[in-house]
Amino acid sequence: MPETLLALLNARIAAAARTAFGPDAPVAGPLVLPSRDARHGDYSSPVAMSVAKTLGRNPFEVAEELAAALEVDDLADPPEVVRPGFVNLRLRPEWVAARVAAEVGDDRLGLPVVVDPELVVVDYSSPNLAKEMHVGHLRSTIIGDALANVFDHLGHRVDRVNHVGDWGAQFGMLLVHLEELRAAGDDLDMANVESFYRAANARDKDDAEFHERARNRVVELQDGEPSARATWAELVELTERNNQVVYDLLSVVGLEDRGESFYQPMLDGVVEDLTAQGLLVEDQGAKVVFVDGFTNKEGDPLPLIVRNRHGGYGYATTDLAAIRHRVKELGAGRVLYVVDAGQSQHFAMVFAVARKAGWVPDDVELTHVPFGLVLGEDGKRLRTRTGENVHLRALLQEAVDRARAFVIARAEERGDPLPDDLDRVAATIGIGAVKYADLSQNRQSNYIFSFDKMLSLKGNTAPYLQYAYARMRSILREAGWADGPPGPVAIQLGHDAELELAKKLLATNDVLERMTEEYAPNHLCAHLYEVSQVYNQFYEHCPVLRSEEPLRSSRLALCDATARTLKTGLALLGIAVLEKI
Ligand code: ARG
Repeated sequence: MPETLLALLNARIAAAARTAFGPDAPVAGPLVLPSRDARHGDYSSPVAMSVAKTLGRNPFEVAEELAAALEVDDLADPPEVVRPGFVNLRLRPEWVAARVAAEVGDDRLGLPVVVDPELVVVDYSSPNLAKEMHVGHLRSTIIGDALANVFDHLGHRVDRVNHVGDWGAQFGMLLVHLEELRAAGDDLDMANVESFYRAANARDKDDAEFHERARNRVVELQDGEPSARATWAELVELTERNNQVVYDLLSVVGLEDRGESFYQPMLDGVVEDLTAQGLLVEDQGAKVVFVDGFTNKEGDPLPLIVRNRHGGYGYATTDLAAIRHRVKELGAGRVLYVVDAGQSQHFAMVFAVARKAGWVPDDVELTHVPFGLVLGEDGKRLRTRTGENVHLRALLQEAVDRARAFVIARAEERGDPLPDDLDRVAATIGIGAVKYADLSQNRQSNYIFSFDKMLSLKGNTAPYLQYAYARMRSILREAGWADGPPGPVAIQLGHDAELELAKKLLATNDVLERMTEEYAPNHLCAHLYEVSQVYNQFYEHCPVLRSEEPLRSSRLALCDATARTLKTGLALLGIAVLEKI
């Protein structure tokens, strides 16, 4: 299969436009889109309308000319032109059947590997050191991982970077506080790392002498004084070990720790380069860059601070160095920053400075992929009752425990035996539910974290899809198709429900492509949910195991392709499936 369905149709429309309106046809906007309403065919091209507008012609006539030039006999019925100027396409069942047959038995669902792979750097998770990870980092981890998976699946090279906050002025107070605790015979307890951080912070604020010691200690750390470095390294190690528990629960792999400290040796170079280009200016003792278009509330130009008035480098400078490293050293074609929406201005300014400094070729994309907040059932930011950050380990563990109770209750209700591997089932369903509840939301919106909703079998949830998958697999096992079809299968799409299912399956790879344009995992979630709903229609109207051959094999093949679509789609979202529940 050479390309995704949409890419194929796009190419046909583009060719027709050239034939009908010449090589320089004023073609703008999308060439073809899936139809929202099946009465208008399966795919529809709005392009005649934009051409008509530029040429000052009648859109319906332009659409007719486009349709006349369109060569789609092999795959669709003759195109239909409707007012004001749409060209609608209805796929031919034989063509759909042949195309979907190529997905049967193939976990890649017939998807070719991209011909022009690029290096995609995905900066995600990125918690701060000596602190608990919070739910914002949970969102970043879940969304970033899903996006990285999709790029990887399409055949790009992916660099998953954990930009851990392991450097900065706060390390002065953390080091001094820890060293003093130890001198007094006490030590840091990672279970209470939040209170450790807060205690250090309080001393730093209230005690001028402590503050002074902390300032000096940072300078020593930066200068590489061995004992400061050693304590710092220990703090890094402890936090990373602490966070690893969360990554293990989430089955996040391949995420490389490349924290802020990694870029420290590169910061002088950033300053030199900005200075040489005359971009760096003095502003109240600090060295800053002003970029057009950024102003504060008063409307005054807003600077990006590269070096503060004490001579220190901050978060923004590190991000500038990271961009240079990712683009120049690593050769990234895109860099995605999966970070909460609160940091939008930071990234907009950092990107603008990096481009102004000429570090980022025009064809390299830098994108902040922002997301909203996680709210509690009270509609406020999710916190513990005492107002602290929710411990992610506890949150995820609760999801697993609730999933276990849910599986037991369902088995009892239906008189089914309990799964032998109840622990694994509970973990798969519990963690899957948390991830899916996040990914199925519009990324930019805030959402309410509700165990009851995410663990429900009604609606667009992970357990719903996991149970649907397990039912499909049980049918396939019963037919002896557990490892795929016994041989090549001819697919018949005589029933409307069969045709609808097959068409839905064919759209999957276009949904994945779209994820690399909009970075919106919720479209994939919505698609998988639709697939399982169309499958339900099919299952209701088309007996599978009870049909005669060759219809039986054709229907089993549709079950196989549907099950693989759910499995692959969920895997890309970081969610596992279960063969039996
Ligand atoms: N550590 C930061 C935070 O918790 C997120 C870092 C995001 N990545 C970056 N390159 N700035 O807010």
